[in-house]
Amino acid sequence: MKAKNVLIAPSILSADFARLSDEVKRIERAGADWLHVDVMDGHFVPNLTIGPVVVKWLKKYATAPLDVHLMIDNPDKYIPAFAKAGSSFLTVHWEACTHPKKTIDLIKKCGCKAGMTIRPKTPVQKIAPYLKYLDLALVMTVEPGFGGQSFMPDMLPKLQWLRQRISQGKLSCRLEVDGGINLDTVLPAVQAGADVLVAGNAVFGEPNAGRALKKLRQRAMS
Ligand code: DX5
Ligand code: ZN
Repeated sequence: MKAKNVLIAPSILSADFARLSDEVKRIERAGADWLHVDVMDGHFVPNLTIGPVVVKWLKKYATAPLDVHLMIDNPDKYIPAFAKAGSSFLTVHWEACTHPKKTIDLIKKCGCKAGMTIRPKTPVQKIAPYLKYLDLALVMTVEPGFGGQSFMPDMLPKLQWLRQRISQGKLSCRLEVDGGINLDTVLPAVQAGADVLVAGNAVFGEPNAGRALKKLRQRAMS
């Protein structure tokens, strides 16, 4: 993957939720390409985070595209609300979809770009039939639910496999990696084919988020 094509999407899950608008401005000034928004429902994953109301307010302050990762059961029920709130990308979990293609169509009908992802234990081949319809394929490199976990290197072959399929099919689908991305793991992820990097703790967990983001980008391009 050519380094100049690599985008960074800081995850606001690790931001100060009482100062979200400041955090958004700070991270955009530092050069964030997208803002990754982790939505958790307490069912699909054990954690609870945010809903469409918060996305609506983020949209008011953000200029970068909102990359909304839905870790929720029954995503079809909530896609229209998250789209209306201002999401640019809506990524659903394959495991949570009854009819994945219908869910992709619904996301697009609501005016958003469509993403699909899989839990670490799910074989990557499960999303292959949908790649040609997707704007974004996301490989989880931690078990979804919490920020600040360790990167799972055994997920790298999934990135390589998807990159090959995307290249062979000349597809326009972006390939995103999410979970445990930091200065040690960013390069293997990019070398395996990722072109969008989600980073939560490695950016917001540092005293100077701007500097952390810049270092991550430098390392991704090294
Ligand atoms: C995990 C989330 C991730 C997480 C990334 O369920 O999907 O986006 O916030 O955070 P770090 O980079 O800290 O692993
Ligand atoms: Zn995420």
